[in-house]
Amino acid sequence: MLDDQRFGEAGARVVLEEFLEGEELTVMAFADGRTVIPMIPAQDHKRIGEGDTGPNTGGMGAYAPAPLASPELQRRILEEVLQPAVTGLSRVGSPFYGVLYAGLMVKDGKPYALEFNARFGDPETQVVLPLLQTDLLDIIEAVVEHRLDQIKIAWHDQTAVCVVLTSEGYPGSYKTGLPIAGLPEQPSESVVVFHAGTIQSEQSILTNGGRVLGVTALADTIKSAQAQAYAALAPINFQGRYYRSDIAHRVLSDSSIH
Ligand code: GLY
Repeated sequence: MLDDQRFGEAGARVVLEEFLEGEELTVMAFADGRTVIPMIPAQDHKRIGEGDTGPNTGGMGAYAPAPLASPELQRRILEEVLQPAVTGLSRVGSPFYGVLYAGLMVKDGKPYALEFNARFGDPETQVVLPLLQTDLLDIIEAVVEHRLDQIKIAWHDQTAVCVVLTSEGYPGSYKTGLPIAGLPEQPSESVVVFHAGTIQSEQSILTNGGRVLGVTALADTIKSAQAQAYAALAPINFQGRYYRSDIAHRVLSDSSIH
């Protein structure tokens, strides 16, 4: 990192931080500069390979709600991470309105903030927003009008699993412009296919990125949502299509949660 200034100016200063072991958790929240309303906690799978191996990607799949996030942990995340960030930004004269994404590490039941993003997460949003019962526009209006404290946000009592289909070679180099076959023709209540790296040509829809599609299924249990997501993606094909076949394995390998 330091030799030959590989990262230019960004590599001129190095900060050493404590290495945190634990499990990653994403909690996004709506914020209006004062009030913070967390969304359903989610977990994504960042590595390209089965069993969380290989290089990091933009996210190979996600599930929500994440059972790791007990009510007590969610309370701590709100009180120790999200609310202090929003209150602190207002205090320094830079109030934050919008979606605040907290990337957390959970160690011994304690949340540590790894990063904040001022946006929705990808692919976490593909499992969180389908569970939202309240109209998103009503929430956004409450955010911009600074009256989040006056609305109640409701969630469906379901689970969601999203599996990302990527191009061959991703996260390295990959081809684009490959026709995608087998996309569902009818909308469905329980499956949503999100387009990420696609483009519409005259004849068909083509790949146009590394992370091409996100297939989300909703069901009463994570196990059933996982099975439905894999069943829904099976007919969708393009040359070199890749996906991880173990999305949500962390939950399903814990026999106490299904
Ligand atoms: N899933 C990681 C991110 O959206 O930054």
